[in-house]
Amino acid sequence: MQEIKKNIKQLLDELDGLLVAHFYQKDDIVQIADITGDSLELAKKASQSEKKLVVFCGVGFMGQSVKILAPQKDVIMPKLACCSMARMVSSEYYDKSIELFESYGIKKEDLLPITYINSNAEVKSKVGKMDGLVCTSSNAGKIFDFARTKGKKIFFLPDKCLGENLARTNGLESAILGIDDKEKILSADIVCYNGFCSVHQLFTPSDVDFFREKYPDILIVVHPECASDVVQKADFVGSTSQIINYVNSLPVEQKVAVGTEFNLVNRLRPPINGKKNTFVLSSTIPECPTMNETTLKDVLDVLQAYKNHSPYNEISIDPEVSKFAKKALDKMLELS
Ligand code: 13P
Ligand code: SF4
Repeated sequence: MQEIKKNIKQLLDELDGLLVAHFYQKDDIVQIADITGDSLELAKKASQSEKKLVVFCGVGFMGQSVKILAPQKDVIMPKLACCSMARMVSSEYYDKSIELFESYGIKKEDLLPITYINSNAEVKSKVGKMDGLVCTSSNAGKIFDFARTKGKKIFFLPDKCLGENLARTNGLESAILGIDDKEKILSADIVCYNGFCSVHQLFTPSDVDFFREKYPDILIVVHPECASDVVQKADFVGSTSQIINYVNSLPVEQKVAVGTEFNLVNRLRPPINGKKNTFVLSSTIPECPTMNETTLKDVLDVLQAYKNHSPYNEISIDPEVSKFAKKALDKMLELS
């Protein structure tokens, strides 16, 4: 093992630390992590672990979710990287969105907000205060089914693609706040905030057509953050964990093109007899820039600083914000 990896392991043992990594992290990081998973699995496993210290390699909202669910833990992040989608909505934009609904004659109490986990603690807290809940890519269908039993108009944020995909699979009408006109907002069952993932926007319907033409038997697998016209053409849609499990369950000779972040896809099934059967569903490399920021050196540095009682990048959340954000997260966990 590389010296740096040994040093990280040693410090983790000494400090009773748990190293957690999302699948989009660099290979080096994923290889030494104690826990890997999709957003839901990481939030659950890291918050329920026995360890006092959680070192989270991912983006900000992921570390925040652990701290909200397990405030007694110290959560540190080697890089305070921020998901570009999560940055598209703030608590101020949330309030403005509610004001816009009200200007259309839609009362606050007639809305049920669902925030994708890719949002900050303040936004989750606003959602919790309105009795709304959180969802992830792996449980969005279930959360959506529950939300529909409440008979309210659903305000889905920040990912318009996931919102539109959910509406379409359930045969419901969707609209985009700030883009569609008042009539459309009034008649829609689900109104989406106008956010999106810059990485998953890279996959297009013509990428799917290209691979289908080249390999007629190929399977197309995508993440639900992809645009609706891409998702409709896919054979399988799932969270990062679900994608990995699905692809690994296929016969090794089955060709598959995967529409999600590059690091994950690149680690899937290596070539057989020099022949590649797993492809990235894009002509460009779909890297998540912020997920790619974390290095082994960052992990070592943040652990050393914590050991020397001068921690940095430690997640802390205002207790009032945390209280309502936890309410929205707990409701999700109850239903998952
Ligand atoms: P998962 O919950 O599927 O891991 O997705 C997280 C994410 O940010 C995808 O872009
Ligand atoms: Fe955020 Fe997209 Fe990166 Fe996922 S891939 S962390 S949604 S920017």
